[in-house]
Amino acid sequence: MRFDVFTLLPETFSPYLQASILQKASERGLLEFCVHDIRAYTHDKHHTTDDTPYGGGGGMVMKPEPVFEAIESVLGTSPTCPVILMTPQGRVFNQKIAFELANQPQIALLCGRYEGIDERIREHLVTDEISIGDYVLTGGELPALILIDAISRLLPGVLGDPTGAEDDSHASGLLEYPHYTRPPEFRGWGVPETLLSGDHGKIAKWRREQALLRTLKRRPEMLSNIELTKPDLKFLSEIKNGK
Ligand code: ADE
Repeated sequence: MRFDVFTLLPETFSPYLQASILQKASERGLLEFCVHDIRAYTHDKHHTTDDTPYGGGGGMVMKPEPVFEAIESVLGTSPTCPVILMTPQGRVFNQKIAFELANQPQIALLCGRYEGIDERIREHLVTDEISIGDYVLTGGELPALILIDAISRLLPGVLGDPTGAEDDSHASGLLEYPHYTRPPEFRGWGVPETLLSGDHGKIAKWRREQALLRTLKRRPEMLSNIELTKPDLKFLSEIKNGK
């Protein structure tokens, strides 16, 4: 899968991409990261990428010309891949959107800076707008890295573990069960007996119940968005009845 990132801060991407498991995946040809400097597509002496807003008011606005030129010279004048603007005004990113985007062979991510971007970029170039949550950052670079990370780890072969992302929190619609590793006792704190029992049926049941319990306690609204099995419902009703 190929990511084309359009940004005014291209140097912010490589420290993370090169230090993570994503670098290994790109060496193996599973991922390709192409980071494009929007400023390289300006033609004036000062390499201007922003200007004051029409109508007055504070802040600066990203100019349309360098953004259009950057994206069109890389993707052509009618891009066939999604062109996603990172903005707090977009639809809020979640695991479902990550799965959806993981089916694409190529994605373009446009990182906003300054107070805003010229609305014509939104109207005539961008095909989707995504926010990573209801808070405002100084730009779309960190949000773009978050999308890249969440999407990339869903692609076959990117994670070292062959079971991959199946059990992740949110992938199943539940938060993940607790994990333990050696030693079996640490500072007097043990590990649940079931996990040491070697009984895979019992372990699977314990994990499912712990995932249900954790979701009920921390994110109860998630339980109404998934199909619960009969044993799930029985377990949850026992919990609710204080058993
Ligand atoms: N740019 C600034 N804040 C953002 C957010 N919350 N999500 C995506 N892009 C942003």
